[in-house]
Amino acid sequence: MPEPMFSLTGKRVYVAGHRGMVGQALVRALKARGVEPIIATRAEVDLENQAQTEAWFAKNRPQVVLLAAAHVGGILANNTYPRDFLYKNVMIAANVIEAAHRNGVEKLVNLGSSCIYPKFAEQPIREESLLTGSLEPTNEWYAIAKIAAIKLAQSYRRQFGADMISLMPCNLYGPGDNYHPENSHVLPALIRRFHEAKATGAKAVTLWGSGKPRREFLFVDDLAEGTLFATEHYSGEPHLNVGAGTDVTIAEVAALIAKVVGFGGTLEYDRSKPDGTPRKLMDVSKLAELGWRAETPLEEGIRLAYDDFLSGGGRNG
Ligand SMILES: NC(=O)c1ccc[n+]([C@@H]2O[C@H](COP(=O)([O-])OP(=O)(O)OC[C@H]3O[C@@H](n4cnc5c(N)ncnc54)[C@H](OP(=O)(O)O)[C@@H]3O)[C@@H](O)[C@H]2O)c1
Repeated sequence: MPEPMFSLTGKRVYVAGHRGMVGQALVRALKARGVEPIIATRAEVDLENQAQTEAWFAKNRPQVVLLAAAHVGGILANNTYPRDFLYKNVMIAANVIEAAHRNGVEKLVNLGSSCIYPKFAEQPIREESLLTGSLEPTNEWYAIAKIAAIKLAQSYRRQFGADMISLMPCNLYGPGDNYHPENSHVLPALIRRFHEAKATGAKAVTLWGSGKPRREFLFVDDLAEGTLFATEHYSGEPHLNVGAGTDVTIAEVAALIAKVVGFGGTLEYDRSKPDGTPRKLMDVSKLAELGWRAETPLEEGIRLAYDDFLSGGGRNG
């Protein structure tokens, strides 16, 4: 591994959003390196509130901020509560970034999402495709807040020389995921469905669409490692993609989950239902050139996620 340009060792590292799926993984990764992170519940500091955020930073004086706090949700929630997705996420980003700057934070890492990219971005999606086309309308409220966060971090770098970077992960899965029956992502939703099908002795599970769309899945602990790597090895204005670097079809990931869960029935496809975007894969060559690549094979990651599901570690709704 290349020599770090910035060291986390001995630093006061604040993980904003430590109870979330990403925040929990960042806490695990920091502890594994012997760094005890600073955390705060929402009751201690509501990051949508500027005065509270400012007061908390002035008192706790973190040297590094990993920004994984966000108001997140699925398509239905985005459509129903557009103000929440835009306002809350803009406020969290603006308050944390401004408070970090005022209180002399040495490094800030802003975590976003691949939904910032245009709906019809060329695949694999390169960082440069940001703002080159229209967004997916269903989540544009969230995406615009996340784009504003990237631009905020860039503006503090330009105006004040602040060391703030942004990372854009693909779909994540793993411990701490949301297994809610209606509003979870495809991979945790399938874990739950196959688990329930096995428990009830169902002969078949029917999936929406053809099973042919290709998707990229990154194990959340790999994202945490990638985030710590970028914290120590990257300082620059452009945001960086963080992904698995490879994609699989929905049919392939479904077959792997069925195998891990031990569902012995058949997988059927309801082709009358929509497929969605044919492919969503990020180009991760920039982070790879710096020296980092995701390591957890999909089947192993699914096994770890299923263990977490069985132990009640996720949010089961
Ligand atoms: N999950 C994915 O597949 C995925 C993929 C790509 C990118 N990401 C990005 O990763 C980041 C974190 O996502 P996640 O999946 O970990 O979300 P999550 O599980 O919903 O966690 C979000 C965290 O933010 C905290 N939070 C929200 N509003 C807050 C506020 N006003 N004050 C203080 N804390 C607040 C929540 O606190 P409470 O516990 O109090 O609610 C929670 O701990 C987001 O930026 C997301 O876009 C996630």
